[in-house]
Amino acid sequence: MKKFPKDFTWGCATASYQIEGAWLEGGKGLSIWDAFTHLPGKIKNGDTGDVSCDHYHRFKEDVRLMASQGLKAYRLSIAWSRILPQGRGEVNAEGIRFYSDLIDALLAEGITTWVTLYHWDLPLALQMEIDGWRNPAIADIFADYAAVCFEAFGDRVKNWITLNEPWVVSIFGHGNGVMAPGRVSRSEPYEVAHQLLRAHGKAVAVYRERYQPGQQGRIGITNNCDWREPYSDSNGDKAAAQRALEFFLGWFADPIYLGDYPEVMRQRLGDRLPVFSDEDKAVIKGSSDFFGLNHYSTLYAADVKPGETVETDPYGNGGMSDDQDVNLISDPTWKKTSMGWNVVPWGCRKMLHWINQRYDRPEIIITENGCACDDRLVDGTVEDVDRIEFLRLYLEQCQQAIEEGVQLRGYFAWSFMDNFEWALGYSQRFGLNYVDYASGQRYPKASAKWYSNLIKEQTIQV
Ligand code: GAL
Repeated sequence: MKKFPKDFTWGCATASYQIEGAWLEGGKGLSIWDAFTHLPGKIKNGDTGDVSCDHYHRFKEDVRLMASQGLKAYRLSIAWSRILPQGRGEVNAEGIRFYSDLIDALLAEGITTWVTLYHWDLPLALQMEIDGWRNPAIADIFADYAAVCFEAFGDRVKNWITLNEPWVVSIFGHGNGVMAPGRVSRSEPYEVAHQLLRAHGKAVAVYRERYQPGQQGRIGITNNCDWREPYSDSNGDKAAAQRALEFFLGWFADPIYLGDYPEVMRQRLGDRLPVFSDEDKAVIKGSSDFFGLNHYSTLYAADVKPGETVETDPYGNGGMSDDQDVNLISDPTWKKTSMGWNVVPWGCRKMLHWINQRYDRPEIIITENGCACDDRLVDGTVEDVDRIEFLRLYLEQCQQAIEEGVQLRGYFAWSFMDNFEWALGYSQRFGLNYVDYASGQRYPKASAKWYSNLIKEQTIQV
């Protein structure tokens, strides 16, 4: 039996576009994901988030289910275009009311709300009018949107996350184009990342200056990173793994914790990596009250020597591989989830230690971890033993990291319920609760019961 600290935050996470549906309701403006999913060929099976889990209409039922499962915290995201249909300017009162009612419902059940301001659903108007995240003006526009949210919800919301996984926005949204807005480029990922960091910094500055003193909440950012283990003991492979981690997580966390992009990125990218002004640096450095981490998997990293081939699949490579000269390699004995992601629990502990060391013992919150399984609904339930095993093994490593001195303070399972898995549509199920999309009915899986018990007991069996 391994025990977690008493005040550990236990939660589940979701995101607006993945669960809400009601894409044309409640005065909402369109987002880039509304547009992207309606383009033929972009999403598996032609799926869209038009209806999805219909959480917009079923949120009360969902909150009751969360309460019945003993969740202490719930991480949701706000659809920017529900609040500001055009991305800026006029505020949509109905949108404010929806999130306000949702937050009240959570509060009434004693569930702490964690809000992500941006989980990828940029108002379409901003994409069309100013090229979205490519335009430096977006930073102030995002900060203005954030202020509307702090103003409307900050009396009740005390945990804010500015951006979810800016890496994905940069690489998948603007590098290989598999996600909205579907841009394909070798330079835009670095430009967009730069504006995302500036936007994050400005939103945090607004919160700290105008709202934090009165509202007494916390604000941070969520970055994603998978672990990179050196493929061999050679110095080359060790350096490759370190380089891969710096291109993945250091890209976003170094400016926030250390004041600039990693040296290795500046050297290798030259002019393709934008330079922070002194003013930007001052705003971005120190702009996170906690370290939000989404972690799912692990790969080996091997050095690519001059003349050797670099594998260029950015899905596997944590960015643009030839910029890094890293090849990523899987171990065929590793178990895989139905996403094809390797199940490597020890990678999670190593990842936590890497963050702990590089960023000087920050308070870490795992804002997402979980897995997709081939779930089958039988007699109203799903015996998802693989998911339980995944969660148990990853949490065991988390618990060990805590014992070893890592300041891990919370864990959010991805996801509360099955939902729209981006380019893969509804083909992948990540939920602790099963969603029958035809009827909208939710069915707790065995993992939901297991997680609920873990929250109650605060212990895992190893
Ligand atoms: C994360 C993302 C989530 C979810 C998860 C599983 O990158 O933040 O929205 O889709 O991956 O793929």
